Amino acid sequence: MRIQIINGPNLNLLGIREPEIYGKKGFEDYLHVLRDAFPKIRIDYFQSNSEGELIDKIHEVGFDRDGIVLNAAAYTHYSIALLDAIKSVNAPVVEVHISNIHQREDFRHHSVISPACKGVICGFGLDGYRLAIDALQRLR
Ligand code: DQA
Repeated sequence: MRIQIINGPNLNLLGIREPEIYGKKGFEDYLHVLRDAFPKIRIDYFQSNSEGELIDKIHEVGFDRDGIVLNAAAYTHYSIALLDAIKSVNAPVVEVHISNIHQREDFRHHSVISPACKGVICGFGLDGYRLAIDALQRLR
């Protein structure tokens, strides 16, 4: 099984950025934990701050991966282009947010990409990525 994690804008600063919301661990460190938790799954990781690069990545991997774990970060709330990209590929996409977006500012309560996603996980910190991979492996 091969799964692609895609992180959107500002998530390169995990561990530094607003640690009271997003925690103190950088994603590269967490990736080791994740790979240890799923030794039989190949987990690829991509991060970009640019909407177009995220779309290109979804197109590139969306026809041969067994699933995509996507934290589109702020694009979640307004990128119709990302919604369309998710709709365009075959791989099931699980939307993940580290924070509980429903406990935060009103503009974070709505996700424009959720309708195209298999499911949504939010509010469990970085553990949300593990929950998403676990959900994807159960789809098989
Ligand atoms: C986020 C929530 C978004 O509202 C925010 O713009 C992010 C991160 C999360 O993981 O909690 O950058 O997707």
